[in-house]
Amino acid sequence: MFKSKESSIQLKLFPDPPKQKMEINNILSPKAYTGLASFHKYWGKKPIESLSFIIEQLTKEGDIVADPFIGSGLIAKESLELGRRFIGIDINPFSIELTKLFLQLPSYDSYLHALQNMEKIIKPFIDESYRMYDERIGTHYLWENNKLVSVWTKNVKNSKEILTPNSIDISLAEKYSSYKPQRLRQMRFFTNSRINASPSITLNDIFTGRALRNIELILGYIEEQINPQVKRALFLTLTSASGQMSNMVFAIKNRNKNNGKPSRSSNAIEVGSWVIGYWRPKFHFEINVWNCFENRAGKLLRILKNEGQSRKYFFSENSKDFWNENTPALLINNDSRTVLQRTPPNSISLICTDPPHSDRIPYLELSELWNSILGKETNFENEIVVSNAKEREKSKREYNRDMEEFFRISERCLVPNGYIALFFNARDSESWEYIKVLEKSAKDLRYLGCFPMFYSATSVIQDNRKGGMKSDYILFFIKQGQRSCFSFNLFSKFPNWSYSLPERLE
Ligand SMILES: C[S@@+](CC[C@H](N)C(=O)[O-])C[C@H]1O[C@@H](n2cnc3c(N)ncnc32)[C@H](O)[C@@H]1O
Repeated sequence: MFKSKESSIQLKLFPDPPKQKMEINNILSPKAYTGLASFHKYWGKKPIESLSFIIEQLTKEGDIVADPFIGSGLIAKESLELGRRFIGIDINPFSIELTKLFLQLPSYDSYLHALQNMEKIIKPFIDESYRMYDERIGTHYLWENNKLVSVWTKNVKNSKEILTPNSIDISLAEKYSSYKPQRLRQMRFFTNSRINASPSITLNDIFTGRALRNIELILGYIEEQINPQVKRALFLTLTSASGQMSNMVFAIKNRNKNNGKPSRSSNAIEVGSWVIGYWRPKFHFEINVWNCFENRAGKLLRILKNEGQSRKYFFSENSKDFWNENTPALLINNDSRTVLQRTPPNSISLICTDPPHSDRIPYLELSELWNSILGKETNFENEIVVSNAKEREKSKREYNRDMEEFFRISERCLVPNGYIALFFNARDSESWEYIKVLEKSAKDLRYLGCFPMFYSATSVIQDNRKGGMKSDYILFFIKQGQRSCFSFNLFSKFPNWSYSLPERLE
């Protein structure tokens, strides 16, 4: 239930103090991702402390910082808070939406108001689809393939009660089973065994008909919102909750509650979570869609409460506004090579970016569910990635070719003596090829050296550490100017600085 809490938002009499200078200790022991940074599970987030340190060391206020592979967009807020101008690009429409949310959060009150209204208008219709014979509302449905095994609900003391499904539960699930989505766009999949995707998967495989019907009720409400910040926040709340609304939620059986290890004596069934990819386990849960939504919305509400009246940063998606200095930030959903090609030469002081790392995570394939909810089309053809999906023809060779092209184009946009800070952690040596041949493809770029990046144990939400190196590296390149003026002293500030490329790690 969304209760109006005692509003913590007080009028601010004084502006925010300037952001603290980043100390070296911050990057040695980065904090965990909490608050806004933990709102959405986008893959491959980097410790914000390292980003801030690099921006502060290599640029000054008013300079342009660009991230052409922006991902979850945390760097945009960080750059603007440090008084830099910012260009963020990503081929994933979802990434750009998330970045926009971070730059312009809705107010706590407006988001709460929208949720309370939604609860009043939409929840009764959703409840109707989970109503049991005694008027209670089902919270979880355990399925064994297509057979309903048990129904969970709450008793008067609000504790879990597990029931055998009766004819009402079964006929209610059947009533919606052939529901055909009207608002969600169908997803496009390739044959990728690594994430269990295939072209034949439809929304009706990923969700029960009941879940789809309820998601679309929520979507209908969101689409009618007028306040753009509230609307975006609601859309992203729905995407954030969508994994838990799906048939991809594992039922964990026979696990010892105390130590998490397998135990034959334990009959308890626990609710697992959605695992990266499109795995639909034989035993899976269908969770009440409203509860999933309410849960994520509650998290964002708490974040908004803590952020107070968070500063809003203006951005434009139109290059003209940015280059005429009408906005501090430019956000573009496109191939970064296309956008940088249209960028004035000698204009960007620092490109600080974490590009795709070879075959680690097929971002667009994995984001297809979220982009379907947002109603956004994706440009799979131009994604820089190595994908297991044969029909995409995204091999390591194409990857290296694309990254070489990216460097060639980036070089042109950098100011003389401008820098590229590249976060990189592919483990196989083949994925480093483009870096090794850089001097041929981008003649004015010079490799300066690198340092290993430090993570706090819980700072990085990286679902697929397997296949990655133990430590990520930040590699530095400079565009040599007429009088190169970079200072070796500057880089001695970076811990464990090395002038050579990291050793091969395979
Ligand atoms: C490693 S992730 C970046 C993660 C980011 N550091 C963060 O904090 O979330 C790489 C990003 O590159 C994007 N990408 C892949 N090909 C692209 C292209 N051709 N142009 C722009 N972005 C692209 C992917 O969509 C993905 O978001």
